[in-house]
Amino acid sequence: MPETGRSALRVDDVEKSFRSGETAVTVLRDVTFELASGEAVVVTGPSGSGKSTLLHLLGLLDRPTAGRVRIGGLDPWGLDKEERARFRNRSVGFVFQDAHLLPQYSVFENVLLPALAFSDRAAGAAGRAEELVARVGLAHRRDHRPAALSGGERQRVAVARALMNSPTLLLCDEPTGSLDATTAETVADLLFELHRDRAATLVVVTHSDELAGRFQRRLELREGRCSEV
Ligand SMILES: Nc1ncnc2c1ncn2[C@@H]1O[C@H](COP(=O)(O)OP(=O)(O)OP(=O)(O)O)[C@@H](O)[C@H]1O
Ligand SMILES: [Mg+2]
Repeated sequence: MPETGRSALRVDDVEKSFRSGETAVTVLRDVTFELASGEAVVVTGPSGSGKSTLLHLLGLLDRPTAGRVRIGGLDPWGLDKEERARFRNRSVGFVFQDAHLLPQYSVFENVLLPALAFSDRAAGAAGRAEELVARVGLAHRRDHRPAALSGGERQRVAVARALMNSPTLLLCDEPTGSLDATTAETVADLLFELHRDRAATLVVVTHSDELAGRFQRRLELREGRCSEV
């Protein structure tokens, strides 16, 4: 079992509003929770309740309007832009709902890409990308481009890519949303396996009760407020 206890993620009184013209829409309010290192939590809630917005804040893709997000005790918004990008690339893996693969690159290249930002990691990177491609069951698809893959296969590439830099925090937005039941289970098994093996803290957004049922902790968003259920 992974070591748990240290704070991996701490969210304090987070609020997020979006301006459109004269009006501001508040999507998240008073969101507060903490995850220990190695914990796994599922985030559920109706469509439009703010799940993706929250995940983007946790993944440093967007900044809270008020409140604070800390990762591993660090406030990433205290860093300059470049440092924050490096920190995010090193620490956070993000699996988007629709995979977001780069169409001009092969499966292998898509998985390898996150490591290329780090010259100190270049040495072992190719081997590690091969290993991850095999791990998600796509060794035989290694040189294919995303357009030649099924939705489930693309999602598995996205998972492998998110793991390339061994993130301590793995964030997944509806990782099984577009998949059939069997493929969804395979992708979910993979996430849990990697969470266990690498002691990564895991946050998964899903509409699936089946997937949600596999987590011990569950956060529910309702009209932008978050509660533990
Ligand atoms: N950039 C933005 N500008 C304005 N409003 C936004 C923006 N991003 C999200 N919203 C609004 O915030 C609300 C929450 O959106 P969000 O995508 O977080 O919901 P969700 O819980 O992920 O929904 P779903 O389950 O459908 O994916 C929605 O009403 C949405 O219109
Ligand atoms: Mg969403």
